[in-house]
Amino acid sequence: MTHQIKTLQDYKETYQKSIQNPEAFWAEQAESFQWQKKWDKVLEWDFRNPNINWFIGGKMNITENCLDRHLETRGDQTAILWEPNDPNQPHKTYSYKELHAEVCRTANALKANGIGKGDRVCFYMPMVPELAIGVLACARIGAIHSVVFAGFSASALADRIKDATCKMVICSDYNHRGAKNIPVKKVVDDALSMDCPSIETVLVHKNTGGDIAWNSLDKWWHEEVDHQSPDCPAEQMDSEDILFILYTSGSTGKPKGVVHTCGGYMVYTCFSFKNVFQYHDNDVYWCTADIGWITGHSYIVYGPLLAGATTMMFEGVPTYPDAGRFWEVCDKHKVNQFYTAPTAIRALMAKGDKYVDKYDLSTLKVIGSVGEPINQEAWDWYNEKVGKGNSPIVDTWWQTETGGILITPLPGITDTKPCYASYPMPGIQLELVDTAGNIIEGNGVEGLLCIKYPWPSILRTTYGDHERCRQVYFSTFEDKYFTGDGARRDEEGRYRIIGRVDDVINVSGHRMGTAEVENAINEHPAVVESAVVGYPHEIKGQGIYAYVIPQDTIKDEPAFEKEVRDLVAKVIGPIAKPDQIQIVPGLPKTRSGKIMRRILRKVASGDVSQLGDISTLLNPEIVEAVKAGAKVKLVG
Ligand code: WT7
Repeated sequence: MTHQIKTLQDYKETYQKSIQNPEAFWAEQAESFQWQKKWDKVLEWDFRNPNINWFIGGKMNITENCLDRHLETRGDQTAILWEPNDPNQPHKTYSYKELHAEVCRTANALKANGIGKGDRVCFYMPMVPELAIGVLACARIGAIHSVVFAGFSASALADRIKDATCKMVICSDYNHRGAKNIPVKKVVDDALSMDCPSIETVLVHKNTGGDIAWNSLDKWWHEEVDHQSPDCPAEQMDSEDILFILYTSGSTGKPKGVVHTCGGYMVYTCFSFKNVFQYHDNDVYWCTADIGWITGHSYIVYGPLLAGATTMMFEGVPTYPDAGRFWEVCDKHKVNQFYTAPTAIRALMAKGDKYVDKYDLSTLKVIGSVGEPINQEAWDWYNEKVGKGNSPIVDTWWQTETGGILITPLPGITDTKPCYASYPMPGIQLELVDTAGNIIEGNGVEGLLCIKYPWPSILRTTYGDHERCRQVYFSTFEDKYFTGDGARRDEEGRYRIIGRVDDVINVSGHRMGTAEVENAINEHPAVVESAVVGYPHEIKGQGIYAYVIPQDTIKDEPAFEKEVRDLVAKVIGPIAKPDQIQIVPGLPKTRSGKIMRRILRKVASGDVSQLGDISTLLNPEIVEAVKAGAKVKLVG
């Protein structure tokens, strides 16, 4: 059985074991899964290439471990519990048996439409059960899924389809989200009009039943899936065959396709799920993320199903019909583990306590946080109002690239401290370094967060561009994986994540490359140049602040700002819309022409007390102009 840590002593011993002999430790965890053929060697790695292989020679299929393996022991237990957007509509459940049958039918439909092992299938869908079913159906037949969050624009979707040369897109007709009905299929149609020749089929799930345009590649999900056999043999996969691609933003260029493979991802997501949430039989677990992000992949679909859990999928939003929805759903389904993002906590906290006080949350045992630093005020509110002071908060730090949670308290086992993600999971060897790469020893220190040894669910490559993977993660410091985050280690060895040290900002827990937003803004014909930085935002954690140099004087500033915002929404998606746009005559630059972002960040955050030496700038006079036009109140 995958080891479930029970006591502090157990954590300490397990951690020691895991770093003294990682291979033996992970082999032991991997034993409990169904392998069609056992691995020959546990690990081979080289961070310089990088080349990382886990459970070498092992053959398996992750869906046999998520589904078939549970049929005898928990076939009638609910696997997926689906709660709709509209609280007056009935919820749905899929038992492990039913989910198995649905996944097999869907897998057979994919095969009937020419999808086979190694083919890429793109998903652009809301949070309906068919999204989880479709993803698992791909895994069943060895097709690679690439889920694109359904809030991205047509052009962002087209970029992702092209990068992975997907053969199929699976989408819904419309998406009920809060009071809105969003035309999902229309976005796919628009994307496909942007030259995506690899797409052979568009499989359309009828969700709301609204009118849609019908094109030559389109097929209905129900017509393709419903008549299929509920049995589909699982494709034999190598441990290191690709399971999925998930795009994420970096500091430069277009989003990159992070690649995760079958064997290691399976072992780590199951192990971390069981330990971080201390899941026990008959518990109801709810992660509010969208499957369009890694949190949904690892901790709505794979981790929980591998562990035989009941995992809830929620179609709606936290504030519809009102700010009590999360708590109403926790009460209704007697949720035991609840996992959400700080931005949601802050948004609900701002609406007042009456929404949370109304509901019975006594079934909660563990409450989690993910995606961005959780500030003390939000932590306290979550702890008191939601956890009632007796559900430990697990502030979980990880990344798309890490596949699973790497730093976290273990509930009821280790201590918790506000703002601290706290302790490394077994197998995770953290290091803090300075900018020159020197290791910072001891406690009560701060540095750049690196990991010096592989864990099973580390990314293997970036799709179609291995060199980029090496560059971004493995070249900054030799023989280390660099996270891009800065962190503090306190006197007792707990870690506090300070935030990104690169040009990536975190908006409502969503990662955004500033260069990507700048490129979108620069598409505006009246824009000469732009610079985007993050600034503290009460609800979103970080907001997007854009400095824009126009070609000529802008006569109607509000209209221009709206055009810029709409353009960004069109190129990337509404989540990337700048919160503040400041028109500037120029940008502070170094003599070599590099934008001095430090100064721009300071102005955007309203604190100009320590701007530093600006005399070496190419254009020091511009700083006064930037300060004079600031969209926030400046101090200092
Ligand atoms: C970045 C990764 C992995 C889940 C969702 C985000 C930030 C993530 C925390 C946390 C402070 C956090 C980091 C990280 N981050 N969790 N508990 N405390 N910061 O995944 O989009 O790949 O972003 O999110 O900066 O590098 P992602």
